[in-house]
Amino acid sequence: MKTDILLGLQWGDEGKGKVVDVLAPNYNIVARFQGGPNAGHTLEIAGKKHVLHTIPSGIFHSHVLNVIGNGVVIDPTSFVAEIKEIEALGTDICKRLVVSKRAHLILPTHRLLDAYSEAQKGKKKIGSTLKGIGPAYMDKTGRNGLRIGDIMEKYFSKRYHDLLDKHKKLLGSFEYDDKALAENEKKWMQSIEFIRKSLLCTDTEYLLNDALKQGKKILAEGAQGSLLDIDFGSYPYVTSSSTTCAGACIGLGIAPSLIGSVEGVFKAYCTRVGSGPFPTELKDETGERICQVGREFGSTTGRKRRCGWLDLPALKRSIMLSGVTSLDMMKIDVLDDFEEVKICTHYIVNGEKTDCLPYNLSEEIVPVYKSFKGWGKLAASGNYNSLPAELKNYIGFIEDAVKVPVKLVSVGPDRSQTILR
Ligand code: GDP
Ligand code: IMO
Ligand code: MG
Repeated sequence: MKTDILLGLQWGDEGKGKVVDVLAPNYNIVARFQGGPNAGHTLEIAGKKHVLHTIPSGIFHSHVLNVIGNGVVIDPTSFVAEIKEIEALGTDICKRLVVSKRAHLILPTHRLLDAYSEAQKGKKKIGSTLKGIGPAYMDKTGRNGLRIGDIMEKYFSKRYHDLLDKHKKLLGSFEYDDKALAENEKKWMQSIEFIRKSLLCTDTEYLLNDALKQGKKILAEGAQGSLLDIDFGSYPYVTSSSTTCAGACIGLGIAPSLIGSVEGVFKAYCTRVGSGPFPTELKDETGERICQVGREFGSTTGRKRRCGWLDLPALKRSIMLSGVTSLDMMKIDVLDDFEEVKICTHYIVNGEKTDCLPYNLSEEIVPVYKSFKGWGKLAASGNYNSLPAELKNYIGFIEDAVKVPVKLVSVGPDRSQTILR
């Protein structure tokens, strides 16, 4: 058996959580492979909304084992709060959750370091979610980090305090509230205790590879999106992990030869939250309309998302980087009733037409658009064939351009508002 991968092809918030929840009945295991509580994956089930940050999006299916892989960074406080929130709904999820011993921990001081780093950057700030992601991955690659496996060891307290001292030195003159930090540390330690007692923390690379050998089906769930990738995103306005298909191999311990299909999720338009270049951004009424109709406000921070037309050069590149085999097109309903809908097919960079993303995305890029007639209003339910001809034309154009089929069309936030082709 091979592992299927589902990941975002834009700047995150494409609707990955919803699709994982829809597809989970076909899988035995759902596994997150990177990122941390910077993610906000929204699931709507029978009108009730759930936002997941660290817990994989297969959690509402009782037969699915949800694995948090070694590539993820975990903030125990927010992770345990998330578990308790779901448990309060009457679902005992601890038995459905397994954590890699190799997943790194986000310390309370990582969040302070994140805030410090942003303050130092001033106008050039990344627009980080301030969840401590960057500093935690820096300690990982700097070989200073603490991992979930360490919480079982006698040396844990000493190593924690050593790292804390190091962070306090790095924070130098940065002003922070000592009392609030002490309070956060207390909650953090209590959450560590909860994880130690209540969750299975193990070598998930063995668990996953054994499951594949036994014929079990695994879906790897990405966080963020390809344009936020540490290597291939709009650096430095990116996150600190590998969000492409290769990140799933590293973040779970699954060999490239064991990767099956790669499902790419994208919105019918583009959004971005935080700073950084966005070639097709609409800073006008149309952008505002997309934002309001699409309720484009961050699932993690509540920040307003910047909106713009679909960017094909960026989409093609994301598909190339991950070897995407099928596409899921989200939030089509948001463009209902638009008289005209546009797609950026090319850019003009330095007077030349290109469909490649330039190294420096912030240089003068003029998007070239193709205009499409709007499709009016979508019916409340129906199958692919019953979609308006104008919409099928819009989807067909994208498929022809990127040479990958659209297999799922999402027409609303609820699990049920999904058309499978
Ligand atoms: P993720 O981070 O990729 O999981 O996406 P988010 O949950 O951050 O953002 C997607 C938002 O769009 C959430 O509020 C979803 O409930 C919502 N959503 C997902 N699919 C659709 C859709 O087809 N139509 C509409 N209107 N909303 C959707
Ligand atoms: P999901 O999984 C959208 C953005 C932040 C910021 C940059 C760096 O819900 O799609 P970080 O906190 O990682 O240091 O922030 O990345 N960002 C996201 N944008 N969706 C996300 O996750 C994001 N995770 C991080 O806004 O611009
Ligand atoms: Mg999100």
